[in-house]
Amino acid sequence: PFYKAMFGLSDLETRIRDRFGLKQVMIVPGDSDSSPHAKRELGRAGCSALRKVMEKDDVVAVTGGSTLAQVAGQLTTQTPLKGNWFVPARGGLGESLDYQANTIASTMAKRTGAQYRLLHVPDHLSEEAYLSLMQEPNIREIVEVIRHARIVIHGIGDALVMARRRRVDGSVIEALNAEGALAEAFGYYFDRNGDVVHRMPTAGLRLEDITATEVVIAIAGGRSKGEAIAAVMRFGHDDILVTDEAAALEIAAII
Ligand code: BG6
Repeated sequence: PFYKAMFGLSDLETRIRDRFGLKQVMIVPGDSDSSPHAKRELGRAGCSALRKVMEKDDVVAVTGGSTLAQVAGQLTTQTPLKGNWFVPARGGLGESLDYQANTIASTMAKRTGAQYRLLHVPDHLSEEAYLSLMQEPNIREIVEVIRHARIVIHGIGDALVMARRRRVDGSVIEALNAEGALAEAFGYYFDRNGDVVHRMPTAGLRLEDITATEVVIAIAGGRSKGEAIAAVMRFGHDDILVTDEAAALEIAAII
């Protein structure tokens, strides 16, 4: 493609960084939609982005997904991160255990000698169930820890792919289509301008927590996610984007 021929990946990093006002963009070669190797490299780059920003006694909130699972599986550290905590950003999704935020947080902690806390709450909650769960002292306590995390590392998905993965009702899918939902991240659905058009009520991180978080790292790649990534970058609260070449080329084509 044009960009690859004309400029290198680092030019692409600079262009995307400046366009969205990010602090840093890291692009790994390849397309993680089709290449398991590229997806692994994406995870590895996520590890180095995370290690670089982690400080003593930090709380890191992590979302689920196959990309974050790649980060978790490769996270290493030279000295144990004893005072650090990993927590799930939200409750469990109705998806496979390997990809749930709880699993990812505990894997990261175990691999680095850090601590973890889990949130045993389903991802979909009615307003009543949510309010009554939040009366539970131990749930309230962990939710407070999550909401005050200094670092958030999250995946980004295509809106409809994620809605199906979460097995939401047909009526919600219709609403998402009607609202122009393009991207999903931490349970919020965004249109192409980065405006939130829909949210899944759950315990855990809320939008106002994300906007207040000191370091927000997005990690997502694959050509099919280019538009979704751009939408979340337009939302504008990420600091670091870790992506791959195929997604970056899609992003560059629309910015
Ligand atoms: C989910 C996160 O678990 O993973 C979402 O909660 C994210 O915010 C999604 O969009 C991405 O999943 P994957 O498998 O494409 O990395």
